[in-house]
Amino acid sequence: MPTALITGGTTGIGRATAELLHSRGYQVVLTGQNPDSVERAGRELPDDVLVVRSDARDLAGTDALVATVTERFGSLDVLFLNAGIFRPAPVADVTEESFDEQVDINFKGQYFTLQKALPLMNDGGSIVLTVGIGSRRGSPGATMGAATRGALLAMMPSLALELAPRRIRVNTVSPGATETPLFDKLGIPQSGRDAMRSRIPFERFGTSHEVAEVVAFLASDAAAYVTGQDVTVAGGYGLGA
Ligand SMILES: NC(=O)c1ccc[n+]([C@@H]2O[C@H](COP(=O)([O-])OP(=O)(O)OC[C@H]3O[C@@H](n4cnc5c(N)ncnc54)[C@H](OP(=O)(O)O)[C@@H]3O)[C@@H](O)[C@H]2O)c1
Repeated sequence: MPTALITGGTTGIGRATAELLHSRGYQVVLTGQNPDSVERAGRELPDDVLVVRSDARDLAGTDALVATVTERFGSLDVLFLNAGIFRPAPVADVTEESFDEQVDINFKGQYFTLQKALPLMNDGGSIVLTVGIGSRRGSPGATMGAATRGALLAMMPSLALELAPRRIRVNTVSPGATETPLFDKLGIPQSGRDAMRSRIPFERFGTSHEVAEVVAFLASDAAAYVTGQDVTVAGGYGLGA
């Protein structure tokens, strides 16, 4: 049975991916940081899905996570680095604390999870990182989100080349506006969501499941010759501009 580790798998895109991969026969281990969402995921997901509370900022905790995965599963076939936060603010309002928090979770945490999990990856495995269309297209108030997720996009081709000798594929997925708990956490009012929707050719947000389907494809042997690519899942956002 192939094994997948998903960071930020308690809600939204990560959780939908956990459910989809599990339904396709993967052994799944996922992380989250919030005690309530970790508890809920553990209660609602199938018993054999391993839910680990692990803060992406805590590198010693990441060592413990990798030790747990090693003990329980021995190796990994899929690594989906998806944990992330979004704290929109104009440049003038970004504090050093908020800067560090976003760098630590969105970039540093994912980077060191990758480094620490890599020895567990089987040759021929697949790594997928969540980026987002904002990193390429821009959005007011999103400098930190764009920069921290864009750092993952920037390193992806180099990582794909570095791991090609082991036939480990590395790709990113870039969701557009996707209906997940992220928007509730941000407190974006309905009027704001309607304005975003009006700019999407499909005139709706994506669903977590639609992003999960792309991640599952990239994770699978169906994508055996796909590496170093960014796949946008955004209902046509930005086309024709
Ligand atoms: N939704 C969109 O429109 C959109 C668009 C572009 C990119 N994205 C990106 O897609 C990824 C998934 O987001 P989502 O929309 O599915 O939102 P979400 O439901 O808020 O999911 C975020 C996930 O990251 C986890 N997380 C947050 N901080 C963490 C930390 N310190 N340590 C470990 N895990 C942590 C959360 O777990 P806990 O709550 O349990 O801590 C949760 O599982 C994010 O990286 C986001 O930036 C989303």
